[in-house]
Amino acid sequence: MVQMEVRLPPEMEADDLKARERARSQELQRDGSWVHLWRVAGRYANVSVFDVGSPDELHELLSSLPLFPYIDAHVTALARHPSKLDQPTEEERRLMSERANQLISDILRRVHEAIVENEVTYEEYQAVKQWFIDVGEAGEWPLFGDVYIEHVVEKNAFGDRAGSQGTILGPFHLPDAPVLEAPYELPRRPDEQGDRTVVTGRVTDTDGNPLAGANLDVWQADASGAYSGFMPGPPEGNLRGQVRTRDDGRYEFRTVIPGPYTIPLDGPTGRLTAAADWSPWRPSHIHLIVSAEGHEPLVTQLFIDTSDYLHDDVASAVKDELIVHPEPTGKGDELGFSYDFVLAPIHAPVPVG
Ligand SMILES: [Fe+2]
Repeated sequence: MVQMEVRLPPEMEADDLKARERARSQELQRDGSWVHLWRVAGRYANVSVFDVGSPDELHELLSSLPLFPYIDAHVTALARHPSKLDQPTEEERRLMSERANQLISDILRRVHEAIVENEVTYEEYQAVKQWFIDVGEAGEWPLFGDVYIEHVVEKNAFGDRAGSQGTILGPFHLPDAPVLEAPYELPRRPDEQGDRTVVTGRVTDTDGNPLAGANLDVWQADASGAYSGFMPGPPEGNLRGQVRTRDDGRYEFRTVIPGPYTIPLDGPTGRLTAAADWSPWRPSHIHLIVSAEGHEPLVTQLFIDTSDYLHDDVASAVKDELIVHPEPTGKGDELGFSYDFVLAPIHAPVPVG
């Protein structure tokens, strides 16, 4: 457990530093090493639980935080308590290791086959090992996974689910975006570039009943393809927000048409992409998580029909059902498109025994 107090010099301009801190902290939360994070009410401080193998590893992790030079950290080592009730049972432990054995053996067997079939040399093996190290050091495992692996997990897990199609979450979601007030408009700069557009539609259950008060957590790149909180340019919170449906299940929000973007080209994921001569581009899209009580949350993206790269998305996340067609609304230069979301009922747990 680490208690962290942040002491920034009062005159310091720290927006960029805070954005990088947030991105790094979420990366560590996603990779499972930052297990819990609580804000200390009324202070610029937090209490966090990290899952690390050694004090050295913890130090390395803390010193990778952009705010590290300004953090007073107090560390308390915690161990699992034998009386804690939610420890896995013997049976659960056995099932988990059977699953791990099955999955790891299968993946390794296929890697071994690829090595033999492609006559991989020792030099290539050493280059791959260095690339693994580089991906870890650059903190790009979430990026690599979301770009090259997640689409298969998503299709496999949710392809047959009732309701609207989902697609990958990707690495640029930030939880706790502000709940906006109607009439909804994603926060943007006064001089925000990009075509103004209004997005409308309904959220219903699979029987067509409207879902009132459903939440749409929306995030997108700006017209130049940059995400706030991750890339230089847009201020914190730009083009991110939560929108609610009305009593009739309808929603409406205003935003701008996002631009296409590449995955970062200068890191190891970009180098792998260039080495294989693949396109690093993602087409223009708006991300959403649509949720309502009693229903499975829908993680999805809406793709702009006029965008380049719809057919060679580096993340393989485009589905025909998710392509939208903005048209002029007749109100000045404004474009508009509509999309109805259908949410599946929450998956009931299968009774055991
Ligand atoms: Fe995206």
